[in-house]
Amino acid sequence: MRKIFLSLCFAHCAMTAFSQNQITLNADLAKTQISKHIYGHFAEHLGRCIYDGIYVGDKNAKIPNTNGVRNDVIKALKDLQIPNLRWPGGCFADTYHWKEAIGPKDKRKPIENLAWGNVKEDNSFGTNEFLDMCELLGAEPYLATNMNTGTVQEAVEWVQYANSKNGTSYLTDMRAANGRDKPWNVKYWGIGNESWDCGGDMKVEHYLNLYRQYATAMTSYANTEKLFRIAVGPGSPNHYHWTEEIMKTLPAKRFEGISIHHYSVIDWSKKGSSDQFSDKEYFITLEKAWFMEEFVRKNKEMMDKYDPEKRVALIVDEWGGWYETDPVGNGALYQQNTVRDAMIAGLTLNIFNNHADRVRMANLAQTVNVLQAVILTKAEKMVLTPTYHVMEMYKVHQDATLVPVQAVSNDFMMDGKRISAISVSASLDKSKKMHVSLVNLDNVNNQKVEISLKGYKAGKVTGRVLTSAKVQDGNTFDNPTKVTPGTFSDATISGNTLVVNMPKNAVVVLEISE
Ligand code: AHR
Repeated sequence: MRKIFLSLCFAHCAMTAFSQNQITLNADLAKTQISKHIYGHFAEHLGRCIYDGIYVGDKNAKIPNTNGVRNDVIKALKDLQIPNLRWPGGCFADTYHWKEAIGPKDKRKPIENLAWGNVKEDNSFGTNEFLDMCELLGAEPYLATNMNTGTVQEAVEWVQYANSKNGTSYLTDMRAANGRDKPWNVKYWGIGNESWDCGGDMKVEHYLNLYRQYATAMTSYANTEKLFRIAVGPGSPNHYHWTEEIMKTLPAKRFEGISIHHYSVIDWSKKGSSDQFSDKEYFITLEKAWFMEEFVRKNKEMMDKYDPEKRVALIVDEWGGWYETDPVGNGALYQQNTVRDAMIAGLTLNIFNNHADRVRMANLAQTVNVLQAVILTKAEKMVLTPTYHVMEMYKVHQDATLVPVQAVSNDFMMDGKRISAISVSASLDKSKKMHVSLVNLDNVNNQKVEISLKGYKAGKVTGRVLTSAKVQDGNTFDNPTKVTPGTFSDATISGNTLVVNMPKNAVVVLEISE
């Protein structure tokens, strides 16, 4: 059994094997806003994410679209209240030259996608298409600059092209000639991507010197809106010194956020199948997903040392499960999405919510047809994955006020290893409704959970649940609704206590009103 103090503190303590899951929700201590940007997404020029998945262009006009973007995908993402979208990569961004992908399509420069399979990239989806699509979705764009094969000048000009007032330079003239008069005012700019690996294999000292050039020039030139500049942070536990170097050496006026990446992968050399996996592989994946708690906490501790006021945001701009590519999907890094992924999503989003004082943006990798996608497509067909449904159930937390949580969870065990079976986070919305998201990771046992409510008089509870008989279950093009949310009615209120009977491998979101 494990004891978890979330928001107030977080710890694991051994308890007797028979005690139940005990949770306290401290509504009286609620003060931190859960940024809606925690619920962000990431779309890279990789496999069938952009082409086929999001953008079908003119050549495929048979699939209903708006300016080449699939209407079914637009609707699905709007229903999720997608708050932001990171683009064009990932590693693809590290060799991307934005000017090759603007203007008349027949004049654009086809390039080789050096990061992903050396396939031909015709550049028909570029800056205008992406930023117009974000407007359509009501999502904030988050652009990743090329700090590897690109130049400072190129990045500065990208900012001007996107953000400067009409008529200020040849760049805004170019923008107007390309059909867009007014600026898009892009706020979020990543300076580099994985600069310790595909982004240039740099040492942190080199990265930071280069970063200063980019960050200074990008904000000093013809820029009407203040940018939110995101520095590359560590991508693995051995890299915490990246965080320390950034916090210690970068002047506050040069950065607003630090990005970190963490994937739940069993073993990079043997990632396992996305939907044919053993109980053991299931457990290891969730153990890796729980690691996000430690990764965020350790980065926070480092940041707190230099920034106790919490000015700088921690941004997890790549996360999710990563398995072997499924040949069925006909594209690089395509994988099926199952109840296991719903567990990763519910758990990870709870972790982010509970660290909302520092985690202010996150981006699930990746939106369509790649890694832990929320949407899968096959020609004109589209499937919403279990992960999609978790994001949809959790959207009630967007911009709500975090309710600090203390939790004691039963163990979920495998081969002598243990992780917490229960994960939880809670928030209060503007109308004082409380939402509690619970995950039972255990794929064998149902879990009874007792929740004590402090500072909140519960009158009524309703709920939704996402589960399925097997953790390998997912939604396919032949059976697209196998795993979909249903009504949950196994929660009862008695005085200040709420008792919830969680089915095995389930995500439950409760709505409680006074
Ligand atoms: O999301 C896939 C890849 O994972 C990204 O391109 C890269 O940044 C990371 O290594």
